[in-house]
Amino acid sequence: VVADAAWRDEVRRLARERDAVLLAHNYQLPEIQDIADHTGDSLALSRIAAQSDASTIVFCGVHFMAETAKILSPDKTVLIPDARAGCSLADSITADELRAWKAEHPGAVVVSYVNTTAEVKAETDICCTSSNAVDVVASIPADREVLFLPDQFLGAHVKRVTGRENLHIWAGECHVHAGINGPELAERAAANPDADLYIHPECGCATSALYLAGEGIVPAEQVKILSTGDMVGQAKASKAKTVLVATEVGMLHQLRKAAPGVNFEAVNDRASCRYMKMITPAALLRGLRENADEVHVDPETARKARGAVQRMIEIGT
Ligand code: 13P
Ligand code: SF4
Repeated sequence: VVADAAWRDEVRRLARERDAVLLAHNYQLPEIQDIADHTGDSLALSRIAAQSDASTIVFCGVHFMAETAKILSPDKTVLIPDARAGCSLADSITADELRAWKAEHPGAVVVSYVNTTAEVKAETDICCTSSNAVDVVASIPADREVLFLPDQFLGAHVKRVTGRENLHIWAGECHVHAGINGPELAERAAANPDADLYIHPECGCATSALYLAGEGIVPAEQVKILSTGDMVGQAKASKAKTVLVATEVGMLHQLRKAAPGVNFEAVNDRASCRYMKMITPAALLRGLRENADEVHVDPETARKARGAVQRMIEIGT
């Protein structure tokens, strides 16, 4: 299947026929981003999924994102073009492991990053995404213990910004972001001293970025820790000629569209998420033709998870 004009016409026709809204995460292949009704970060897409009038949501992203849409809209049909599109970060904690962790910290508030399974969300008090994690944790009374999961790098970022000592962090990671490391970033920053650095907080190098700024190796105003959606916002206002981007490489497409005059370069051009890339033009076409793969969440699990997800979409920008 080639993503040509005939493919685009057929995808749009089938989407109309099915009363479907097409949502694409910023890490999707460029042709999938371009055909979607909305492209964005996890938080923006969750909000759109919750508000949409369409009877079918086609989620071009990974499984937990489609599950989140289903939790928010149990009466809608939610499709993911390939249900095998998982997430190594979401797989880094199970509901049983979370229950055991909660038992060690009775009374703690559980904050789960949206990259978790529906079963883990059902054991959670508030979900967050990278764009509102700090606001979510700041909304919790200072004397309450917090269990933050599953991402250790995002957790370390939130702990640093909020200065909160009673925040416990699960040791999970995303294999793509953990692989974007500090030495690589330092080398690229040294070779491009005028470049801005856009760093996703899931990256292994997020700490190094702040180190570079703290030591005055890179001016602090050039170092920006951002969610994928906030990167697009920054790009639109960018005065830098070059921006080094530390996140999954699919992000470069939206950034280049948002600011065509800026030279965006990946810090690590091998940082590609194989799960995100399972949503191919062929998979999207098949999904629309066959009404597949449908995402189901057990109604009781969805009911328990819904409050935590709703609190997430209400808090922060
Ligand atoms: P955001 O879109 O929330 O920044 O998340 C990044 C991510 O890794 C999702 O898989
Ligand atoms: Fe999960 Fe990482 Fe892929 Fe995002 S980039 S979907 S966190 S494995």
